[in-house]
Amino acid sequence: MMRAVEITKPGPAEVLALTERPIPQPAPGEVLLKIAYAGVNRPDVLQRAGLYAPPPTASDLPGLEASGTVVAVGAGVTDWAEGDEVCALLPGGGYADYALTAAAHCLPVPRGMGLREAACLPETFFTVWSNVFQRGGLKAGERFLVHGGSSGIGTTAIQLASVLGARVFATAGSDEKCAACVALGAEKAINYRSEDFVDVMRAEGGANLILDMVGGDYIKRNVKSLADDGRLVQIAFLQGPQVELNFAQVMMRRLTITGSTLRPQSDLAKARIAQSLAENVWPLLDAGRVAPVMDSEFTLEEAIQAHQRMESSGHIGKIVMKVG
Ligand SMILES: NC(=O)c1ccc[n+]([C@@H]2O[C@H](COP(=O)([O-])OP(=O)(O)OC[C@H]3O[C@@H](n4cnc5c(N)ncnc54)[C@H](OP(=O)(O)O)[C@@H]3O)[C@@H](O)[C@H]2O)c1
Repeated sequence: MMRAVEITKPGPAEVLALTERPIPQPAPGEVLLKIAYAGVNRPDVLQRAGLYAPPPTASDLPGLEASGTVVAVGAGVTDWAEGDEVCALLPGGGYADYALTAAAHCLPVPRGMGLREAACLPETFFTVWSNVFQRGGLKAGERFLVHGGSSGIGTTAIQLASVLGARVFATAGSDEKCAACVALGAEKAINYRSEDFVDVMRAEGGANLILDMVGGDYIKRNVKSLADDGRLVQIAFLQGPQVELNFAQVMMRRLTITGSTLRPQSDLAKARIAQSLAENVWPLLDAGRVAPVMDSEFTLEEAIQAHQRMESSGHIGKIVMKVG
């Protein structure tokens, strides 16, 4: 048996409870990880609240990323062996002593990086790489706007985009968060409580690419902020998905509106993202040119407090739980 944190019913952070579950066994193509650290992500909070159901084949336990040691491998796994230290994208189940994932969704712990930081890489790096660079096609020299700049996703997007040569703009909800965005490589951070990002981006000539997690009235404002041929990539709707939009602008200015969610994608699609990350992004992590921004650490027993920290929106960067 192993310790695990389960969602007893949809609701506030207090519905999380420590329990015991059987240690799962790897199927062909899977590895069993003994978890050292588990990353906490906003989708875990949404799942707990009953707003983001896990895919039918995934564990009902929350937790989309972790670091740890491979302790068993399923049939056909040749890339990893017992004793290897990895960080991994999980289909769920990270809030536990052990978790299963596809071998192809594991990546090595970057050189010089501890397991604590490595646990915080997969969810945001898979999401940012696939949405900003693969789907959004961000190129060096382009103007890139990311909302929620101080979030786990935002801090990753700012670093990767600026290291790869884009001009980065970010929004955040306080001056302290804006300062953090600039320190990570943003050319300008916009405190959305005191400044209109539409005005700022239009004065710059418009954004070539926007990564948005806010939605609601941001959708119209994002469209206004885009340069001709600009792309809007939507990865969440913290302020709701429904909006009335005049699509003539999309046609007249040749805009692209797209988006994706990571979790429901096929194992093969995630494996392809992992492969591309290994080739294009892991060298940057190995060289220390990008690194996760760590906000706070909790224990597995403190999962409730970890979720409360995330919902306070006081955090900058990643929240992690020490498990092993
Ligand atoms: N599509 C995908 O595959 C995928 C994968 C992972 C995450 N996501 C999404 O990406 C977002 C960031 O995830 P994360 O784990 O990095 O979360 P996070 O660190 O909690 O970031 C959320 C950020 O959004 C801002 N925010 C919160 N509520 C808001 C609201 N109502 N209006 C405007 N801004 C708000 C907060 O910043 P301020 O305090 O500065 O407003 C906060 O920093 C989440 O929405 C998550 O669901 C999507």
